[in-house]
Amino acid sequence: MTKIKSVQGSESRILSVGSYRPTRIVPNSEIVDRIDSSDEWIQQRTGIIQRHIAGPHESVIDMAISAAEVALHRAKITIADIDTVIVATITFPYQAPSAATAIIERMGNPKAAAFDISAACAGFCYGVGMANDLVRGGTSKKVLVIGVEKISDFTDPDDRATAFIFADGAGAVVIGASEETGIGPTIWGSDADSRSAIVMEPAWTDYKLHPEKLMRELQWPNIAQQGQTVFRWAVYQMSKAGLRALEAAGVTPDQLGAFIPHQANFRIIETMAKEMKIPDSVVVADDIKTNGNTSAASIPLAMDALLEAHPELHGTLALLIGYGAGLVYAGQVVQLPPAP
Ligand SMILES: CC(C)(COP(=O)(O)OP(=O)(O)OC[C@H]1O[C@@H](n2cnc3c(N)ncnc32)[C@H](O)[C@@H]1OP(=O)(O)O)[C@@H](O)C(=O)NCCC(=O)NCCS
Repeated sequence: MTKIKSVQGSESRILSVGSYRPTRIVPNSEIVDRIDSSDEWIQQRTGIIQRHIAGPHESVIDMAISAAEVALHRAKITIADIDTVIVATITFPYQAPSAATAIIERMGNPKAAAFDISAACAGFCYGVGMANDLVRGGTSKKVLVIGVEKISDFTDPDDRATAFIFADGAGAVVIGASEETGIGPTIWGSDADSRSAIVMEPAWTDYKLHPEKLMRELQWPNIAQQGQTVFRWAVYQMSKAGLRALEAAGVTPDQLGAFIPHQANFRIIETMAKEMKIPDSVVVADDIKTNGNTSAASIPLAMDALLEAHPELHGTLALLIGYGAGLVYAGQVVQLPPAP
């Protein structure tokens, strides 16, 4: 019998990172009155001081392209060199066609492979894992992975449990061939029995479309969450997942240059770092403080900010771990991109 030709790719790494933050900065003082809160409470419980919120005419596609252009420029390539675009988002308002195809069309490479991932705040790390496997398997040579959210479109400004947490933005990385292993094995999974911990409200549970009922009852969806359930799950389960990602990569915490977890709450980040015994020599990303929780965009945004503040971290190892609605998670050890 004729055998199918075996194709192998190469090792891969992150070649560059880029990000986009909307220009409008919203401090805590601007949102506290509607939710009977205070700047002090928000800072104490989450670390958040301010967040960036997109303008009314600024779309997920606009923000994604702005971040992608920076990443491509820093990798010294153009969109024509990219053969696959993966977009992690839960706030592009259409199921199809995808955000990824809108991006390649607007950027001028409409023939690239392109698709979206729905894995909430874990989406970027899902994308990095898939891009790594695509390059290693020989399917792709250069992959653009974008995490982008406009969560302000899906946040109720009167909801005390969410209005102060979420924010908008985009981050992108180019992943391509490398002589050495630049991305460790991806540790991923779900805790789907906690699906109700973060949902878009109103939540439908029978999963069938009832057009008449929908026309009568449908409301604009807004994100809702059980804060304490998510908090406990994140600190204990995600610390374990982080340790598994380190072990899979054969890296110990003291060999890391940086820890860049999903930016959901600085208390979660600090507790995770403690649980995982990450030493003080490792720089811990704290972009949550000035940027809020931007879901799938939070890790590449935090990576870019960290490299700007600490240029010496270019080329060092970082542990990434994303987690969110599903509940789902993914993490891996990566070598941070070289200085552009
Ligand atoms: C949302 C979160 C900050 C709430 O903090 P918390 O300490 O769990 O708050 P609780 O709901 O237990 O409420 C504690 C107190 O604060 C009050 N409170 C709740 N929300 C408040 C708000 N927005 N402003 C001021 N006070 C608030 C409560 O009324 C309660 O008061 P009481 O002690 O007098 O009864 C926290 O649970 C959290 O960050 N969870 C993780 C969420 C997350 O990361 N989600 C995204 C994952 S991708």
